[in-house]
Amino acid sequence: MRAPVLDDDSAQAFGGRHSVLKLDTVEGYLNAFTSALRPKFNLVYIDAFAGSGSFKFGGSPALGFMAARPATVHDGSARRALAVSPPFDQLHFIDIDETNAEHLRSISAGRRGAHVHCEDANIAVRRICEQTDWGGRRGVIFLDPFDTAVAWDTLGVIAKTKSLDVWYLAPLAGIYRNAPHDHGDLTPEKKRTVTRILGTPDWEPEFYKMPTQRTFFDGDLHKSPRRVLDTDGIQNFMKRRLETVFPYVEKPRTLYGGSSGASPMFSLFFAMSNPSSAARRVALPIAQHLLKPKAGQFRR
Ligand SMILES: C[S@@+](CC[C@H](N)C(=O)[O-])C[C@H]1O[C@@H](n2cnc3c(N)ncnc32)[C@H](O)[C@@H]1O
Repeated sequence: MRAPVLDDDSAQAFGGRHSVLKLDTVEGYLNAFTSALRPKFNLVYIDAFAGSGSFKFGGSPALGFMAARPATVHDGSARRALAVSPPFDQLHFIDIDETNAEHLRSISAGRRGAHVHCEDANIAVRRICEQTDWGGRRGVIFLDPFDTAVAWDTLGVIAKTKSLDVWYLAPLAGIYRNAPHDHGDLTPEKKRTVTRILGTPDWEPEFYKMPTQRTFFDGDLHKSPRRVLDTDGIQNFMKRRLETVFPYVEKPRTLYGGSSGASPMFSLFFAMSNPSSAARRVALPIAQHLLKPKAGQFRR
């Protein structure tokens, strides 16, 4: 794990320990990926929600006799990708925010093959995927959005390259918060949000069933369907959805956060667009090793 520093004006404020765990995992993969493929292929990295290059969390203001605690600043995905060794040949950093894009230009200035795109990731990823000649090229794309910014179609565009390995931080809490336990509370807006994340309206009949028995907790028999999928069930549903797009999807790692640090917030997925078994033999052992919780590592 990289040592945090104490101040950096360009750092975005977000995340928590789960963000560091996510980035350590992806960074580990990037280093192993370029080491394994460097001599044979031209290597591309796409950071679709690149941020500013660093982020901070954990500070608190002075309170009574307690001194103020500064936030700790951590290297984000873009800085980590720039430091990967052996290096990528092309790096695409995408962020919709102009201030972030300015920081990305500054940290990648002078680096051959580095491009900054200040626009919606769904548009930029489509253009990069469609305009790149993937013959002799392999790459990794990191989808690290806030909330629900990844359009389902974008995953299909990535899959078509047959050359990109994908790390996707899927918004698990974004789904279950919008899929209330009681179907009667499912507003059209919540429905649209879940459909956007999962790319199909078919989730609804799988998520909700009419209870057949009165339970101890229910008291009265429910008059509307109840959500029958817990977070594991939702995660499995997401995996099956991704499997309709990608030839291989690994079991995700659940990342915990929230104010207690114990709420399941995200599912970190690894998927491959390359259908070849040779590519899978290289990539999978690395991804599986990185996704497995390690002794002493922060879990929740
Ligand atoms: C969770 S942060 C990414 C953090 C970054 N990967 C890192 O490690 O520091 C999400 C980023 O996505 C950007 N963003 C939000 N919506 C976007 C969109 N539609 N297209 C591109 N970037 C977007 C935000 O400005 C923010 O910097």
